[in-house]
Amino acid sequence: MRFLASLPLAVLALTFAAPALKAQAAPPQVVAQTPPMGWNSWNYFAGKVDDKGVRAAADQLVATGMKDAGYIYVNIDDTWEGQRDASGVLQTNSKFPNMKALADYVHSKGLKIGIYSSPGPKTCANFEGSLGHEEQDAKLYADWGIDYLKYDLCSFIPAVMQKQAPNDKAAQMRLMITAYEKMGKALKATGRPIVFSLCQYGWDSVWEWAPALGGNLWRTTGDIEPRWNSMYTILSQQEGLQSYAGPGHWNDPDMLEVGNGRMTLAENRTHFSMWAMLAAPLLAGNDLPNMKPEIKAILTNRDVIAIDQDKLGKQASRVYSEGEVDVWERHLSGGAVAIAVLNAGSDRYSTHPFHLNLAKLGLYGTQHGKNLWTGKEVDLTGNMPIEIPSHDILMVLIPGHK
Ligand code: GLA
Repeated sequence: MRFLASLPLAVLALTFAAPALKAQAAPPQVVAQTPPMGWNSWNYFAGKVDDKGVRAAADQLVATGMKDAGYIYVNIDDTWEGQRDASGVLQTNSKFPNMKALADYVHSKGLKIGIYSSPGPKTCANFEGSLGHEEQDAKLYADWGIDYLKYDLCSFIPAVMQKQAPNDKAAQMRLMITAYEKMGKALKATGRPIVFSLCQYGWDSVWEWAPALGGNLWRTTGDIEPRWNSMYTILSQQEGLQSYAGPGHWNDPDMLEVGNGRMTLAENRTHFSMWAMLAAPLLAGNDLPNMKPEIKAILTNRDVIAIDQDKLGKQASRVYSEGEVDVWERHLSGGAVAIAVLNAGSDRYSTHPFHLNLAKLGLYGTQHGKNLWTGKEVDLTGNMPIEIPSHDILMVLIPGHK
């Protein structure tokens, strides 16, 4: 009886709701369902990036097969900004004569383009920031066809946080969060799907609040440098953050230094493997036109990339460490598991090999898998001895039993 009485009301509600639903704009396209992959100008070119260099990077992504392997975003970092005109519209500087034309060029290659700004008055390299022009800048990016924004705190710290709340850290953090929220809303209001990358070095447990304001990735630490110690320190700091990563929202341990600085091949391999284990964004930061074949081989290892891009989006955790050897495990879709055994110390010879304890990984009996760096099949057994060179890694995929 009660049901019947309420029926006409329900029908009425539906009749009126239908046109309203129809009028609603299509939901914005979902971005970053797997960790973003591409290239960023900062780690190698820093302030020297220009239009020509970005076009060359786009060309190389295609020519080297990196695009086919998944590297899609061509991201211009700091130092592209010029001055604002009388109406506040930001201009590019002389290194970037025509951003729209550059975006069109990058898009014509089947790639996407990213840009950089700061919520403060200035960027980290002291170029023009977005403070007070957030909506205007977001609209400008959308008009140019930008697909990705890295938003870097920098001068917002002294210019707003410390100035407006000199002795109140919590109030400073609230100002910071509000600034990111503002740009998140401004990007959304453009209606263009734009990946929103927060860069504020992990302050105030960013992983807890960034997804709610539209953040697709957030830096968890300070800047990476092309040295083993920097990479390994950042890696160790990712421990415990695994529950915050997932489709659409990722921890960002910073861009890749593969091929930069003086890292050995083993170190480059370990860096790349571990970023894949962490479901980290894979943004190459090297000089693509002059990339050595062995570096290309690392960056285009499809098996390792597939771990990074696994659709389940579960970040690895460090299951145990013994001395200087770390054992990480990542659960993948279809019940598969990736295991990484990393030697942060000196060479492990046959005299004192590392003994991998499978039971600690929840694996019992012989596990048949694939060594992702040799491409060879391997059997992992109970307490098996493993020799690992210094700073190198054993990475094995054990397929799922569906
Ligand atoms: C900060 C960021 C870097 C880079 C520079 C640019 O240091 O953390 O990744 O964007 O600014 O100035």
